[in-house]
Amino acid sequence: MFPKIRTSLPGPKAREIISRDKRYMSPSYTRDYPFVMDHGEGVYVVDVDGNVFLDFTAGIAVCATGHANPRVVSAIRKQAGKFIHMSGTDFYYNIQVELAERLCRVVPIKGKKRVFFTNSGAEAIEAAMKLARYHTMRHQFIAFFNAFHGRTLGALSLTGSKIIQKKGFYPLIPGVVHVPYSYCYRCPYNLQYDSCCLYCLKYIEDMLFLKTVDPDDVAAIFVEPVQGEGGYVVPPVEFMKGLRRTCNKYGILLVCDEVQSGMGRTGKMFAVQHFGVQPDIICLAKGIASGMPLGAIIASEDVMNWEYGSHASTFGGNPVSCAASLATMDLLEKQLIKNATVMGDYMKERLLPFVEKYDCVGDVRGLGLMIGIEIIRDKRTKEPANALRNKIIHHCFNNGLLLLGCGLNTLRICPPLVITKEHADLAIATIEKAIAKMGG
Ligand SMILES: Cc1ncc(COP(=O)(O)O)c(C=O)c1O
Repeated sequence: MFPKIRTSLPGPKAREIISRDKRYMSPSYTRDYPFVMDHGEGVYVVDVDGNVFLDFTAGIAVCATGHANPRVVSAIRKQAGKFIHMSGTDFYYNIQVELAERLCRVVPIKGKKRVFFTNSGAEAIEAAMKLARYHTMRHQFIAFFNAFHGRTLGALSLTGSKIIQKKGFYPLIPGVVHVPYSYCYRCPYNLQYDSCCLYCLKYIEDMLFLKTVDPDDVAAIFVEPVQGEGGYVVPPVEFMKGLRRTCNKYGILLVCDEVQSGMGRTGKMFAVQHFGVQPDIICLAKGIASGMPLGAIIASEDVMNWEYGSHASTFGGNPVSCAASLATMDLLEKQLIKNATVMGDYMKERLLPFVEKYDCVGDVRGLGLMIGIEIIRDKRTKEPANALRNKIIHHCFNNGLLLLGCGLNTLRICPPLVITKEHADLAIATIEKAIAKMGG
């Protein structure tokens, strides 16, 4: 397969579906360009008019094993033919415990662990919030600006990414405070790494804990080891290590939201492994089951000490999703995590010179196949170029490449982990043409 645009975009069939969608679907969805999926195979997706695109979104960092991966499809078919649902809340089934055992073997948490399954990322965050309060008997949470943890009311309270996600939904849950993340390209304190001595960490201890929040009231710090929706921001290693130290000092739980960064995307099974830090609770979803709805939280058995009946979910840990997840983990461990490192390094090496070459490229950063390109108006002021970023994405779409944005002005590169060098070259060429034409 190869990208091939054979109609004007959107084509006639796509236009018809979009007009019905506009009539019946919630207007809250964020469709930035008119791609109407018909089917997919690996890194390629085909729209309803037969146009072929290279998909560097993976359905927002979900389809890690590529579209319709035959191993995953076969696992889904096999399980669906046996039984589709039997409420893991009330009954037992082997495939659920098999996946729990498998996840416990790979998460970077010491000792005996336990798993709670959910249907989505936001639900995993909700479960982690409840568990953190239950376990510590404390009520306060610390989260970060630019964080995205989901849109249900608890998770939304932790989210600090875009005001449109919160506007009209107050009051959210009480007891959440946001502090600056270690976003060195745009240091909120206007300092330089590493002469800053990680002031963003010191702020928590020297300002927050002295002036407004008693650390003994804090149940958990929620952190994305690499911020996703907020702009694909990679913090320095000392930031994550410092958070771990602060948590240890005050008996606070460190909750790593790996909904987007987990399951091999960054070239390790979990992004937090790049930082040599152990979380107390890890939250997973997105890439865990190649697109079947599934999420999970995993914690040590000491932390996951809530009692019979205190939390449950009808669909969480659905057997078909568990089957897809086991097949996904086979593929990740065999080959795809390694491929994320190799292809991620290759892409970054080719993209980094764009910072020198193009006035509108401010920063290229990322781990594995979680890469962000920040688009700016001016190298000196770093003024974010939101409209230009969007134009670049549209140009790529019209030329057969699906991309998404993240943050205000960043291009988000999160392809399926199955990409080859040829796919990477094709995507980079399309992105470069778009940048050269739209931004110069
Ligand atoms: C880091 C992170 N946490 C939580 C969520 C919420 O996940 P979901 O959309 O499955 O509820 C997302 C979704 O983008 C995410 O990126």
